[in-house]
Amino acid sequence: MARFSVILATLVWLCHVRAVAVPSSPPSGAVSVDPSLVSISIEFFAFPGYTQMSGTNNCLNNLASLRNAQPAIRIGGTTQDRATYNASLASAVNYTVSSPLDAPTSLTYGPSFFSLASQMQGQVTVGLNRQLNNQANSLSAAQRAKSSMGNLYAIELGNEPDLYSSSSPIASGTGWSNSIDIQNEAKWFTALAPSLGNIFQGAVYLSWNTQTLISSIGSAALNTIKTISRHSYPQSACGGASTNLPNLMSHSGIVSYVSQYKAEATAAHNDGKKFFLGETNSATCGGGGISPTFGAALWIIDYVLQSALIGADRLYFHHGTIGNCAYCWWGQNNVYSPYYGAVFVSEFLGADGAKIAALDNGSSAIATYAVYSSSNTPLRLLVLNSNYFDSTGSRSSASVQFTGLATASGTKQAKRLTAPNATSRTDQGAAVTIGGGGTFSSTCARQGTENTESVAVGGNALTVSVLASEALIVYL
Ligand SMILES: *[C@@H]1O[C@H](CO)[C@@H](O)[C@H](O)[C@H]1NC(C)=O
Ligand SMILES: *[C@@H]1O[C@H](CO)[C@@H](O)[C@H](O)[C@H]1NC(C)=O
Ligand SMILES: *[C@@H]1O[C@H](CO)[C@@H](O)[C@H](O)[C@H]1NC(C)=O
Ligand SMILES: *[C@@H]1O[C@H](CO)[C@@H](O)[C@H](O)[C@H]1NC(C)=O
Repeated sequence: MARFSVILATLVWLCHVRAVAVPSSPPSGAVSVDPSLVSISIEFFAFPGYTQMSGTNNCLNNLASLRNAQPAIRIGGTTQDRATYNASLASAVNYTVSSPLDAPTSLTYGPSFFSLASQMQGQVTVGLNRQLNNQANSLSAAQRAKSSMGNLYAIELGNEPDLYSSSSPIASGTGWSNSIDIQNEAKWFTALAPSLGNIFQGAVYLSWNTQTLISSIGSAALNTIKTISRHSYPQSACGGASTNLPNLMSHSGIVSYVSQYKAEATAAHNDGKKFFLGETNSATCGGGGISPTFGAALWIIDYVLQSALIGADRLYFHHGTIGNCAYCWWGQNNVYSPYYGAVFVSEFLGADGAKIAALDNGSSAIATYAVYSSSNTPLRLLVLNSNYFDSTGSRSSASVQFTGLATASGTKQAKRLTAPNATSRTDQGAAVTIGGGGTFSSTCARQGTENTESVAVGGNALTVSVLASEALIVYL
């Protein structure tokens, strides 16, 4: 009897259908979506190498064709603050490393670095050095960027200054703090703006709050700032810290995590600046085993949409050392599981998606979203079941009934993103698929056949089932 009631309770839970009303126009809380919401960050020293890989062009173009807008590119990271410009260097970059899997501790770069950057299709933000305290050098690099890049969008001066120390050259032996950094950013921006324009991406903080910079940098410097960048990594594997995939992909966990940035986004917008998660990805220091997985693909979908809802205009997903990058979307001869999430969320947003709304309150494992056209009609729905499935036990399923549709009866089509389980890795041969058979070749060409599933509509409602660790788009 006890066993029977457990089974019964399980069945009732499995069959529980949650009802979600689809507002016929964007509800309060809906936000406009930047065409380049899903963008890319590329580590400074590795950027020329990325331009040599066919995967780069193909992976970016797939995203661009889904949104009818190119992803923006930010070139920067730790090595931007180790780089010195050499106007007579023939190569794009020059450095020595003991292993090709290492990042250089010092490097030089030449004018052809900017020629390569000028060939990127999207808007490009270039991250230059501040830590080495060579303002004349960064100015000459920025002037070269400005003259050779028609696609130049913004310039950073320094990366994650929260990690500078009193022994950094920029500290000039007098200590380092958030308030010193703010004065220093002000000094550099106002010194360089007369030559470069009001083109700076300010803050570029990992742990400091960007609101402090906005409120205390002063109006002259604030005027030179075009965009505000905050870096965001939900987890870290640094120093042996442990990572957790169920936590990474948890819908309620993502809602709670991104809420920390809402006030910063609002502060930036109140001063007329775009607010970007200007460098982001799943877990730092090698990814802790969770970054190359299908669960990370599901995380990307939910994280992108929740970040947009709290006011992040773009997310720049970081790409590091080629061949040694757990959270990368593609490499020399591979397209990794997370890329499937970037493609799926881009397909949901589409070329015609103008506004998104969350249709759930963020308290459960099931995420539901709607995307609306510029004329405020619902275009597509998304269901993401963030319950963790790792192939142990049976795979639970969530049923969602969408009500209030404009269509009374008939059929709609749906497309599924799935994999054997949340730990599945395409680089280990796992079948991560879009629409049953859609995948990507080793150089990121679309391959296979994507199919849609028919969903019956009756009484202006439809019901879909989504397995644990799976996502589904419904086309209205
Ligand atoms: C700059 O590049 C030129 C040409 O390759 C080279 O001769 C020179 O040593 C470089 N200067 C520095 C400081 O690296
Ligand atoms: C390139 O860097 C190496 C040190 O990593 C240096 O020995 C060499 O002179 C540099 N080449 C140029 C052209 O600057
Ligand atoms: C969120 O929605 C669930 C139903 O999905 C409901 O049980 C819960 O009370 C809601 N929580 C809040 C804070 O509104
Ligand atoms: C999860 O799926 C992968 C295939 O993608 C498989 O290799 C692995 O064994 C599965 N995990 C478990 C615990 O069965």
